[in-house]
Amino acid sequence: MAFATSSPRKKTTYTLTTLLFLFFFLFSIFLVSKQTLEPPIFLYRDFFPKTPSSSPPSNIDSRISLADPTPPSERVDSPINQPISLNSQTEPKGFEISVDSVNAEVPAGVEEHPVPDNGVGGEIGDAGGDLVVEKLKNCDLYMGTWVRDEEYPIYKPGSCPYVDEAFDCQSNGRRDAEYLKWRWKPDGCDLPRFNATDFLVRLRGKNLMLVGDSMNRNQFESILCLLHEGLQDKSSMREVHGHKITKGRGYYVFKFKDYNCSVVFVRSHFLVREGVRVNAQGNTNPTLSIDKIDKTSGRWKRADILVFNTGHWWAHGKTARGKNYYKEGDYLYPVFDSVEAYRRALRTWASWIDKNVNPAKQLVFYRGYSSAHFRGGDWDSGGSCNGETEPVLSGAILNNYPLKMKIVEEVIKDMQVPVVLLNVTRLTNFRKDGHPSIYGKNATASKKVSTRRQDCSHWCVPGVPDTWNELIYATLVTQQTNSRSKIH
Ligand SMILES: *[C@@H]1O[C@H](CO)[C@@H](O)[C@H](O)[C@H]1NC(C)=O
Ligand SMILES: *[C@@H]1O[C@H](CO)[C@@H](O)[C@H](O)[C@H]1NC(C)=O
Ligand SMILES: *[C@@H]1O[C@H](CO)[C@@H](O)[C@H](O)[C@H]1NC(C)=O
Ligand SMILES: *[C@@H]1O[C@H](CO)[C@@H](O)[C@H](O)[C@H]1NC(C)=O
Repeated sequence: MAFATSSPRKKTTYTLTTLLFLFFFLFSIFLVSKQTLEPPIFLYRDFFPKTPSSSPPSNIDSRISLADPTPPSERVDSPINQPISLNSQTEPKGFEISVDSVNAEVPAGVEEHPVPDNGVGGEIGDAGGDLVVEKLKNCDLYMGTWVRDEEYPIYKPGSCPYVDEAFDCQSNGRRDAEYLKWRWKPDGCDLPRFNATDFLVRLRGKNLMLVGDSMNRNQFESILCLLHEGLQDKSSMREVHGHKITKGRGYYVFKFKDYNCSVVFVRSHFLVREGVRVNAQGNTNPTLSIDKIDKTSGRWKRADILVFNTGHWWAHGKTARGKNYYKEGDYLYPVFDSVEAYRRALRTWASWIDKNVNPAKQLVFYRGYSSAHFRGGDWDSGGSCNGETEPVLSGAILNNYPLKMKIVEEVIKDMQVPVVLLNVTRLTNFRKDGHPSIYGKNATASKKVSTRRQDCSHWCVPGVPDTWNELIYATLVTQQTNSRSKIH
């Protein structure tokens, strides 16, 4: 009996195996023919320029791939201190990360990629980037590594008139230049090469606005430089009021007259409303209304593409301590937890966006937390990153994901307007070599450079913020290619 039943079973197994083989055989034929067929179709299509669709687009759907295989680290960002007075010119310096991880050995055999791989990181501007775009769409742009690329930086240090002294490391006397030659390489794809002309074409008739703290000014200067580099007629770009960028001013509008578009920076440290109160002794003290949107929000409405950030300031001084500082309505909390305040402030921001942004016409980015690398102390107690000339390429530090970022994700998830998270935290974790350190000031002017206060939170420009803008570019490419007029 046992044999009698096993025989048909065996037969079934054989048949199944045969079927399976047949399936794989047919499937590989399909794959091969698909591969050989695709290029001709793709070339053929190039002869017909895409006409922009005139129908109004549906919602901008694509959040870029948000999946991530690594479990979120449970580490909480450590606080830093910072003097806050409303008129203070002092910029926040950032979080401290664990000394051990900063000291992690950089392994030998760093991946070298002198040329972009197989054209994937190639031209996008002209028609025919469809394959590249498909690949980008299915790629997690934020999981990857830094690779050496001799074609970097995209513009020469010292060549861009929009870098303010604080980020102008080479002009300030920084000698090592290897830190300029890294390109961010997502695991599953290559970022498209930044094409300033194509970027400006996509921006035509639009207003790109960065809203946030000095980290966003850092990114703003980088985008101005990237666009300036690619402009034929450099004089076709100018700040409308003739303002030179310094940390003292909180509003800049750059117009690109050949493209009828503008790139704007609006300073807003918290995205919610700063205020002052007069206490019993007659002194004025800063307050923060976490239930009211920032006063600059009137300007935000005029943007077609918005890039927000807030973060570093929440871990500083009065904001971190939360004593007689946070307000809701008229009520001033004697003490309030800064993490909860951050969550509520972001919810205030989120509901403003949901109420005032039309996702069919506007695109909203939130740029995630940018890592700081203070070793052996804090920003104000001798913390250092001077002498760091190479990225950290492995170690626990790479998985640092601050609690505040989890809050950002949580808030964004509940919004009606889709927000693209520029999830740069991880890629900045690597870059302990990218900060100004002691070169945030012209160090050649004085013989003795003070090493006491180092800037290990902002970034040299050119440098890491160029990558953030390449990521914005990559996102525009994936969102706009199928219907060029998707964002009006
Ligand atoms: C952002 O990146 C971190 C890794 O640094 C990851 O844990 C997280 O899931 C990512 N978030 C999204 C929305 O992709
Ligand atoms: C950049 O984009 C422009 C405009 O779309 C295009 O004509 C040009 O070929 C692109 N350049 C490169 C190097 O891809
Ligand atoms: C420039 O763009 C604005 C929209 O920002 C549009 O109203 C205007 O017509 C455009 N001007 C030209 C000359 O294209
Ligand atoms: C830095 O200072 C030196 C010496 O005073 C000066 O020659 C140089 O132009 C300065 N560089 C910048 C970028 O201001």
